[in-house]
Amino acid sequence: MNAADIRTRFIEFFVARGHLAGEPASLVPAGDPSVLFTSAGMQQYKPYYLGVDTPPATRITTAQRCFRTNDIENVGRTARHLTFFEMLGNFSFGDYFKTEAVDWALELSDELGIDRGRVWVTTFGGDETVPPDDEAVRLWVERGIPEERIIRLGRKDNFWGPVGPTGPCGPCSELYFDMGPEVGCGGPDCAPGCDCDRFLEYWNLVFVQYEMNEEGALAPLPRPSIDTGMGLERIAAVTQGVVTVFETDLFAPLIARGAELAGVDPQGSAAIVRALQTMAEHARGAAFLVMDGVVPSNEGRGYVLRRIIRRAVQQGVAIGIEEPFLARLCAQVVEMMGDAYPALAASRDEIVAAVGEEESRFRRTLQQGMSILDEALRRARDS
Ligand code: SER
Repeated sequence: MNAADIRTRFIEFFVARGHLAGEPASLVPAGDPSVLFTSAGMQQYKPYYLGVDTPPATRITTAQRCFRTNDIENVGRTARHLTFFEMLGNFSFGDYFKTEAVDWALELSDELGIDRGRVWVTTFGGDETVPPDDEAVRLWVERGIPEERIIRLGRKDNFWGPVGPTGPCGPCSELYFDMGPEVGCGGPDCAPGCDCDRFLEYWNLVFVQYEMNEEGALAPLPRPSIDTGMGLERIAAVTQGVVTVFETDLFAPLIARGAELAGVDPQGSAAIVRALQTMAEHARGAAFLVMDGVVPSNEGRGYVLRRIIRRAVQQGVAIGIEEPFLARLCAQVVEMMGDAYPALAASRDEIVAAVGEEESRFRRTLQQGMSILDEALRRARDS
């Protein structure tokens, strides 16, 4: 099943269960100066969870493009970390709660062909302020997930939110797919929550029950709600039977193109694999950031865009691409995703121009740096 089909199936599944197909938000959040980017599907709905605004429907579903700056350095180092990704979500604002969220997560996982025998889940194990989520454990057990595949984790792993300094949050329960022991670290304690690539978290169900204030204190929300997020790239890896998100149809053509431009074997070495993954990942991020109105600059969002463009170019230069290439990869992103995102197709020229210009500027800087270094080395040799 290709990623476009998964995206459509997800939305249709939840529309059939009474959800409104919501309009995804821009990567540049409207009216929320506390955060740089949209990094979760629920973000645009914060006022609905808090009860300060009325939602158009009490059940909404979206495919939300997200950007997470904290994962920039992990791109290319793991099989699963991305800066730009799509999160498929279903949201309940004081409507259904845990039972339906769990039921539908299992039902849709089955529909997508995910082998239940390889599904593990995590639940919130409790801490000094929030009790352990025994109800979630019971729901999973009743639905046939064996106790030994239910892992209770702490606040760092299984309590989600808020986005930004304050806002809605709550204990969560995550679905993981076991990619197989051969993929993992082999450690005796390897299980969901381990840093290795064996257990891939593909769906996070957040039981939104609290509002966090500036001091980190939790106040109960008037009505328990639901916020779920399934990573499209990750679920595509699972359904397409590959180990890394970079082997899915969302990335593979970009990686092949990068290898062609560099004239390298895409599996040639670990450094090449990492470079090609980084180039493809950052091409997607750059294309979508420009689509949403970000321009390269030295601060804020523009700086993040500049940084990913430069990281991608650096990697391309390192594997021998002499001519500017990133705008071409971005144009390919537009080709691959323009059907799902008409605004991306409409921004094609702008994306190519902004990325092309930034790459040329950076290559000039690199060139000047190299000349200065050459000159210094020559002087040192001659002295
Ligand atoms: N907000 C949660 C997350 O980002 C679930 O959608 O993981």
